[in-house]
Amino acid sequence: MSSVQLLATAGLCVYLCLAAGLAAAPVSLEDEKAPAYWNERARRTLESALTLTPVTRRAKNIILFLGDGMGISTISAARIYKGQLEGGPGEDSRLAMETFPYVALAKVRRPQLLGNAPRARAVPAAPSACSRPLAALQTYNVDRQVPDSAGTGTAYLCGVKANAKTLGVSAAAVYGKCNTTWGNEVHSVLHRAKLSGKSVGIVTTTRVQHASPGASYAHVVNREWYSDADLPKEAARQGCKDIAYQLVHNTDINVILGGGRMYMTPRKTPDPEYPTDPKQSGTRKDGLDLVENWLSAKEGARYVWNKEGLDAVDENSTDYLLGLFEPKDMKYELNRDASTDPSIVEMTEKAVRILRRNPRGFFLFVEGGRIDHGHHSSRAKQALSEAVLLDRAVARAAELTDASETLTVVTADHSHVFSFGGSTPRGNSIFGLAPKKAEDRRPYTSILYGNGPGYAIANGSRPDVSSLPIEDKDYRQQAAVPLDTETHAGEDVAIMARGPMAHLFHGVQEQNYVAHVLAYAACLEPYHAGPECPAPSCRSGSPGLGHPHSLLLVALGAASLLLRM
Ligand SMILES: *[C@@H]1O[C@H](CO)[C@@H](O)[C@H](O)[C@H]1NC(C)=O
Ligand SMILES: *[C@@H]1O[C@H](CO)[C@@H](O)[C@H](O)[C@H]1NC(C)=O
Ligand SMILES: *[C@@H]1O[C@H](CO)[C@@H](O)[C@H](O)[C@H]1NC(C)=O
Ligand SMILES: [Zn+2]
Repeated sequence: MSSVQLLATAGLCVYLCLAAGLAAAPVSLEDEKAPAYWNERARRTLESALTLTPVTRRAKNIILFLGDGMGISTISAARIYKGQLEGGPGEDSRLAMETFPYVALAKVRRPQLLGNAPRARAVPAAPSACSRPLAALQTYNVDRQVPDSAGTGTAYLCGVKANAKTLGVSAAAVYGKCNTTWGNEVHSVLHRAKLSGKSVGIVTTTRVQHASPGASYAHVVNREWYSDADLPKEAARQGCKDIAYQLVHNTDINVILGGGRMYMTPRKTPDPEYPTDPKQSGTRKDGLDLVENWLSAKEGARYVWNKEGLDAVDENSTDYLLGLFEPKDMKYELNRDASTDPSIVEMTEKAVRILRRNPRGFFLFVEGGRIDHGHHSSRAKQALSEAVLLDRAVARAAELTDASETLTVVTADHSHVFSFGGSTPRGNSIFGLAPKKAEDRRPYTSILYGNGPGYAIANGSRPDVSSLPIEDKDYRQQAAVPLDTETHAGEDVAIMARGPMAHLFHGVQEQNYVAHVLAYAACLEPYHAGPECPAPSCRSGSPGLGHPHSLLLVALGAASLLLRM
């Protein structure tokens, strides 16, 4: 590791650990003038850090939260935006993903660092421990310096770096070449968790066939083969299957929540929500109704397509739930109709409540998928709102699970060319202007993109942004280079974790390391044979419990787990 990398890691940790020591209540800027204020806060953060003990037992449950495109600049800006939504200046705010409640960590005595030193009155109570340890991930694909979401999904879910735009196949598979799929499949931790007897689920704000969730169940050399109508003739002839087909036929997934109805039903099947809009209709050429196929293959399965249906699902009697809430991606949070579509928080809650009934535990993948889309369209407010909602889902899941048995990880697949700067004063709206004018004697917004559709130079000059609706949710921040879609960025992303084996995320690592820690933590293949790992159940492959002895073993395992609870 280079010294630059080391410095970057150390800086990152100090930076986020400090943020974690800060309290959620809005501060008085007057208080901040007193050294005691900063000293006391830092002392409490230090005190918390000293009590941190790695949880070295294996994890029963795993939740992996993925902010698509949630680079570190996005996390910082989302933190400020969250604080401003709560009425504070914002910078001192804290995201749930940056810190988990102290009580959720190992129950250890808090040492007295400096005796009973008098506390400064203004310091907010109960600091939380840093969500530790914090590490950074190198996101490049095998064939790309700046990656896409498919190659990265394959890395953090399947444990193997891959080529851009391919899902669930190693880099020996060639993008778009169907017949390079076979023999090159790699299997996700979600798939391996299912084979070990856990319940598994995916939640996303994109279509469920999109790249990030797709990497958990599909093996495909082109991430855009959503339905069979998207398959080139040659690929179909060679026997390749679309992603929607694989969703239903590969891994036995208990909970699937997101968008993506149109890839599941035969061509021209009217969409239930938009029955008069032919552009939203089903697209399948093979005539399959994959929703029907899924329902008929599973006992106790439910399908829902709106919020009302989701709310009506009894989590105590439902073992399989498919919820598809839009024909393609779900709506941005700021555009969502809360009476018809669930939020990522509501989907996450329902998924956890269903999955956690399995005494052998669960694996859940939750993607805030449209942070990425907000950035691609250069609409920072949409992107940051999606990030804030993802953080609320992190907070909700933390409330619903026990950190002593659940490893929760929050990370991103890649960054974006999104930045904020310009010597803005404390409390400046995150979407606001920098205080000084630029060389062209025009103001500029703090948030800018390196490239994208926000490029606005016409006849040699920028428009005067002070006359533009810069706080509007669909305002596009300016970009230096014109592109119809803003691009990903290549710098490292953060990874935050709590719970068993969270301490294994440390330093600057390759992104595929994530899947290995998850597999190790939950005793999944190839780390399933450790002494602390439970006896195997139906690991040999079939999701069915065909062998009478395995049934008995599962029953015994469940009974002993119940007794221990
Ligand atoms: C794979 O398909 C291509 C055509 O796309 C063909 O040229 C090639 O020979 C095939 N390779 C194998 C191993 O079948
Ligand atoms: C599900 O079961 C739990 C525990 O038995 C109970 O507390 C909860 O109210 C039940 N939920 C519903 C929706 O019935
Ligand atoms: C740029 O200049 C041309 C020619 O003077 C004019 O027609 C056009 O409207 C200008 N565009 C903008 C965006 O000001
Ligand atoms: Zn993207």
